[in-house]
Order: sequence, then structure tokens, then C-alpha cells
Amino acid sequence: MTFLNEIVAEFPDAISFAPGAPYEPFFADITVGPLLDTFVEARRAAGLSEDEVRRHLFQYGPSRGIINDLVAAALRVDEAIDVPPDAIVMTVGCQEALFLTLRVLHPPGASLAVTDPSYVGVLAAADSLDIAVHPVPDDGTGPDLAALRRASERERAAGRRLRALYVSPDFANPTGNRLTLAARQRLLATASALDLILIEDNPYAFTAASDDRLPSLKALDRDGRVVHTGTFAKVAVPGARVGYVVADQWVERRPGPPVRLAAMIAAAKNAVTLNTSPLAQALIGGLLLRHGGSIAALGAPKAARLRDNRDVLLDRLAHHFGEPDQPGAGVRWWAPEGGYFVQVELPVEADDALLRYSAEAFGVLWTPMRGFHLGPGGERRIRLSCSALEHEEIVEGAARLADFVDAL
Ligand SMILES: Cc1ncc(COP(=O)(O)O)c(C=O)c1O
Repeated sequence: MTFLNEIVAEFPDAISFAPGAPYEPFFADITVGPLLDTFVEARRAAGLSEDEVRRHLFQYGPSRGIINDLVAAALRVDEAIDVPPDAIVMTVGCQEALFLTLRVLHPPGASLAVTDPSYVGVLAAADSLDIAVHPVPDDGTGPDLAALRRASERERAAGRRLRALYVSPDFANPTGNRLTLAARQRLLATASALDLILIEDNPYAFTAASDDRLPSLKALDRDGRVVHTGTFAKVAVPGARVGYVVADQWVERRPGPPVRLAAMIAAAKNAVTLNTSPLAQALIGGLLLRHGGSIAALGAPKAARLRDNRDVLLDRLAHHFGEPDQPGAGVRWWAPEGGYFVQVELPVEADDALLRYSAEAFGVLWTPMRGFHLGPGGERRIRLSCSALEHEEIVEGAARLADFVDAL
């Protein structure tokens, strides 16, 4: 990732399919002062005094957050996830939500399974926490459940415990894959059978059209199996660094009464960031209030733009490389049902040297996928992201990519 950031900076004129960052013209709608006013007005209307409002915004705040009520209400209307505010922790981006969740779920001797490939941030978090990680292959139809079962049995035989599986069911980063409803149900049943927690990372579900949404694992969870993480980076602004984790499970603790997993995550947060900036949370709170309390409504214009961008990219890839998912073709590529990540397989290894050649000679950047893999499989694959580009840039970038591929 460091190399990728360096090369993006080194070739500012290249067309970059590398970062998964939001389309910047959407930031023009973010007027910080009025949004904070909206939030403050709502808190005043709910009975907070002037002193309390000031304390709410400017003082150290509760580790679990100050907009949990708004997020709980939004998850109820948008996702049919019905949890109380105290089952949610507001975090510094989804990255902190993942880090803290891994920390709390993995005492010494507990290990983690991840779909392979997976988002690099979760691999980095597990690495920095010294958590042993088992890759579970995903061929595009979902995690290989037999491999998951074998990993769980292996751990048990060795006196350890496979505690959780990280999975991103909707348009995953980097594959763009989405789990079918049946695959979601099979995964939940397997998690129950193996006594596993599913860590559901969900930043891209909002990109689906409203008539094309599938229920999240958390919405289908009847057995307390799912911890669900989310972010306002993609539906609003990454610069606010506001994410959240839904962890409504009750955990037995002796001595003392059971506590919610969210309370344990909030306690762990005390050792990392204390609390998520109340000002940043208030900004997001103001945005939610101005969109009828709905994360889906907040994300809707961005989702429409992302769907357009994806359509342009898929059209151009079909034009240059033929139909998607054709084994044996010089270039194989996959058309995701949503999100904005597209996988392409090159006829040669896609390493850092090849990326430099692509940037220098053809002015086009992409992300090598090998960094997302723990096991084999990503050597020749690249990830294209079309989130931050104009349509003309996508058209030109795809043409440059085709020239680059011709020269391989
Ligand atoms: C799958 C996935 N999870 C988590 C994150 C981190 O999100 P945040 O910016 O909220 O920390 C990203 C960021 O791109 C992501 O792609």
C-alpha cells in the first residue's frame, strides 16, 4: 500500500483505477457549520441544556459514542437490523471497528479465518494484534465452507479455538463479489454449527439499487452470530473518520452480570482512541438528520453515480477485452453486480515492477491484488476501482489499459 501511494503521487497525470476513494465533487455539499447546527438543534429539542450541548460537542465523550441513537434508528429503517443504541460503538472509521472487534474476540489461543482474498486493513489489524489467520478460499460463490470446517477442526485438535470469520458479503473489496441469499443462509448455519462469530464488513452494500438489495447477515442473524461493521466514509466523507460496530451479543463474565460485546469493545477503545471525535460524530449526525435519519438516503446520490461509473467501466472492458468471465482468454475479467471494484486477470504476473511500467509507459494505474491474498491465486490479478473518476477518464483509462495489455 505504501508503494501504491508513492506511485500514485509520482504519476499525478496518470489515470488511476487504484484508490477506492469517494468522488470528490460530492464533498461540496458538506457545510460543516450548518450541519453541526442541525445536530445541536435536534439535541436541544430533545431537552439538552446549553451547558449540556457544549459538553456533548467539546468535552471528552463516552467511548461508545454520542450518535448511537441515530445510527440504531437508521439501521432499523434501512437494514431491518433491530438493536438498541447500547449495542453500537461509534468508532474512528470502520478500520478501528475491525481492529477493536478482533482485539476483543481474540484472547490468546483464539484465531481468525478470513475469506481469501480479503480487505488488506483486516489482515493488517490481525497482524498487528498477533492473531493467527486462516485463509478460506472464495471462488466468487462465497467462502469455502468445507475449508472453514477443516480450519475449525484443526484448531480444536491443537487445543486452540477458531473464533471468527471475517467476510464482506456485499461487493467485497477487492473482488466485487456478492453472496447470494442462499450462500448467506448456509454461512450462518455453518457459523452456528462451528460456534463461530461472523464479522460482517459492510461498506459497499449501499451501492445496490433499492430493488436489488439483499438482507445483511446481521439482519438474518437469529442466533447472535454476527458482529456488523459499517462506515460513513463511502456514504458521506472519509475525512470525518466515523464508523461503527454493532455487537449486541451478551457475554457472560464472572464475577458480575453479563455485558454486551459492545461494552467490551467500548472498554477496549479506551486503550486506543478513548472516544471518536464528538465533533465528527455531530457532523455525521447532522447529515443523518437532514436525510430523514436514513443512511440509505444519505448514500443514494453517491450510489447512483457509482452505478453509472461501474456501467461505463464494464462497457469499456467488454469493448476491449470481450465478455466477462471467459476462462482461457488473454485477459479475464469479472463483472460485479455492485460496488466499484472490478477484478482483471492479466496474462503475466501483476507485480510492482509491472505497475511502474504501466504508469510510465501508458499512464494508467491499478492495484495489484497479491497484497489482498494470504494464499495463492492473486499473482496475475489486478483490482480496478472507478469510484473517484469522471466518465471520460474511465473511457480513456480503459483504452490505456487495453494498450498496456497489448504490449505485454
Ligand atoms: C472492506 C473495507 N472495510 C473497511 C474499510 C475502512 O473503512 P474506514 O475508512 O471507515 O476506516 C475499507 C476502506 O476502504 C474497506 O474497503
